[in-house]
Amino acid sequence: MRIFNSRVVLLLFAVSIGLCSCKNETKTTNTDVAKTDQEGLKDYYKEYFPMGVAVSPRALKDSSQAALITTQFKSMTPENVMKMGPLHPEQNRYNWGPADEIIAFAEANDMIVRGHNLIWHQQYPDWFFKDADGNQITKDTLYTRMKKHITDVVSRYKGKIYAWDVVNEAVSDDSTKVYREESPFYKIAGEDYLAKAFEYAHEADPDVKLYYNDYNAVRPEKRERIYTLVKKLVDAGVPIDGVGIQGHWSIFEPTEDELKKAIAQYSSLDLDVQVTELDISLYKWEKESRKKRADEQDDFIPELEQKQIDQYDMVFNVFRENKGTLTGVTFWNISDQYTWLDTYPVPGRKNYPLLFDENLKPKKAFYKVTDINE
Ligand code: GLA
Repeated sequence: MRIFNSRVVLLLFAVSIGLCSCKNETKTTNTDVAKTDQEGLKDYYKEYFPMGVAVSPRALKDSSQAALITTQFKSMTPENVMKMGPLHPEQNRYNWGPADEIIAFAEANDMIVRGHNLIWHQQYPDWFFKDADGNQITKDTLYTRMKKHITDVVSRYKGKIYAWDVVNEAVSDDSTKVYREESPFYKIAGEDYLAKAFEYAHEADPDVKLYYNDYNAVRPEKRERIYTLVKKLVDAGVPIDGVGIQGHWSIFEPTEDELKKAIAQYSSLDLDVQVTELDISLYKWEKESRKKRADEQDDFIPELEQKQIDQYDMVFNVFRENKGTLTGVTFWNISDQYTWLDTYPVPGRKNYPLLFDENLKPKKAFYKVTDINE
């Protein structure tokens, strides 16, 4: 690690010019060097918030990735295996195994877990919205099924999961609307499904922290719509504890001002705020899948690397300024070896959005965000 090397060089330099003649000083520095070598993001940020990462059971079985996870992170979020589709594939069958593996790994390594997620308009199982004849279910049946799913899942991990993304991405992509009206939950029940989801989760585990989670949550116009939705829940006395800003950002956005304003506005509702899915893409945000253009370069060139370092530096400065308000920061994937952004939204376009490179080594941006002089 660069910090290790620079300290060793400094120590050798100090000894060579006679600054370190005292035995004790030399001893202290050595201890310090050893400690630094073992320090990860979680240690640098210990006084600020738990540093988390999205994982798959497969990554936990890979010894190099597992070692990186346990040295760098305090918290894990299952990337996929707790979503309703993978977890509850048939009405009377849960696929608990993969989710249980993540919980067991966390317990064995003194880590905490964020649950992701309970209600989402994507990655749901086919059976969920249909009756035995294949027709759309009624609102009553929807609530019965939501309650059963939420109660089963939240109860199973009671005391093992400290926070849940209860509803994911309920705000529309259409800036003239608040709610994603094409979501099957909305189509059947209208906006009330959100309050129900939080109530069921709270009944199942009154101690777990309950979050509303969304993307582009720092863009001013969407921020206002998310705020409207969340404020309505708060005003109605719905048991919501926090807002998850996903943090799928890029070297182009957000600005410092946008980020500060978003954290301030959500926390003005007396809610916790977390950055739940952090990555800093090299490309502008796009949603629709498309083919890679022939002229599209996807090398991690120094100019892009510098922009990414600057962006990471800015966002972590703001995160640290919001100590106490920001109660967690979670990266979406571990390293540039694998990121969902390699296929989304442009299959085959390599991306390098994280703090560890394709060989799991810390990138320059890692050293920037861990160089804390406060
Ligand atoms: C959204 C979801 C995540 C994940 C990412 C893409 O942000 O909340 O669960 O699916 O998209 O990996």
